[in-house]
Amino acid sequence: MARLELQHLRKQFAPNVIPVQDISLTVEDGEFLTLLGPSGCGKSTLLRLIAGLDQPTRGQVKVGGQDLTLFSPGDRNMAMVFQSYALYPHMTVAENISASLKIRKVASAEIQQRIGVVSEKLGLNHLLDRKPGKLSGGQRQRVALARALVRNPEVFLLDEPLSNLDALLREQVREELKQIFNAQNKPVVYVTHDQTEAMTLSSKVAVLLDGIVQQLDPPSRIYTHPANRFVAGFVGSPQMNFLELNCENSMARVGAFSIPVPTEVGERSQIDLGIRPEDLRLAKADETPTFRGQVTLVENFGREQLVTVQVAETSTKVRMVIPPDQEWDEQDIAVVLEPAKIHWFDSKTGDRVTSSVA
Ligand SMILES: Nc1ncnc2c1ncn2[C@@H]1O[C@H](COP(=O)(O)OP(=O)(O)O)[C@@H](O)[C@H]1O
Ligand SMILES: [Mg+2]
Repeated sequence: MARLELQHLRKQFAPNVIPVQDISLTVEDGEFLTLLGPSGCGKSTLLRLIAGLDQPTRGQVKVGGQDLTLFSPGDRNMAMVFQSYALYPHMTVAENISASLKIRKVASAEIQQRIGVVSEKLGLNHLLDRKPGKLSGGQRQRVALARALVRNPEVFLLDEPLSNLDALLREQVREELKQIFNAQNKPVVYVTHDQTEAMTLSSKVAVLLDGIVQQLDPPSRIYTHPANRFVAGFVGSPQMNFLELNCENSMARVGAFSIPVPTEVGERSQIDLGIRPEDLRLAKADETPTFRGQVTLVENFGREQLVTVQVAETSTKVRMVIPPDQEWDEQDIAVVLEPAKIHWFDSKTGDRVTSSVA
């Protein structure tokens, strides 16, 4: 059992530099937790606190119930993979992979055996005698992973391990990562700013902004029930549309856009509406549209068309996804929103207001 627990972690570098404000979370054996957020939101700082590379200003790091907060990195039995890979340039691949085992005085027969297992798993058998300078980016990345796996640590920590790979390779390694870590049954904490990685790899995602966890949930729930406007806008591509509406007589409006508000909106005079591009569609001939608007741009992605529409009588634009073969006659179109797919956010705090969070 190696459950990882973070309790009220805080890191302050200077009076106004507090990249980790107050973070508590638990990662169970076999859970893959991703820290997702924009650059500078405190992801790497949090990971370094877990690894012991930085000391927290406050709070605790525990593994399997044991408080490790004051332990040095070498005494934590955690393996970390860095974005830069941090390989030793003068050592061969085999030496890089086994360096940590040698420091721990593992018997050389066992070292050979463990190198064999991980290099087989990661397809590095034919590269064991090379130096990192003679490897491609993808191969270096594999060596960095092998070095983490070979230690058989209690906890895995990965900081943007795919960001130096080109898009195609990233997709391939992403699938491999998923298989490798599924088989490990250890807590994994993975840092990325890439929502696709977060959504595809994780059992849970913690969305971070300004050193605070905005939402901690399985990826599908982050997508369907974003806790606030920031999460709603950060996760999802193309991005969710937002409309700032005025409420009166149980209707919310802007220009030609008008829609009934749910009771949860209460007495607010203003409300923000969020709707994903795939939850808008062209109105049928006999249907009352939510709004009419002008098509200002059509982007054909082959699999779908992304249509930008300016809502009539406003400067607000929304984007909708429609099937690749769907056609329409005029630039002026009628659009319907899927009511069950609407997200309502408080216009001041940005917090989700719909209680349909079931
Ligand atoms: N050692 C440090 N000293 C001072 N400020 C730091 C230090 N490390 C990180 N920071 C600051 O903390 C903030 C968060 O950084 P970081 O955790 O690296 O973000 P992320 O990994 O999410 O991009 C940044 O504003 C960064 O400048
Ligand atoms: Mg970082």
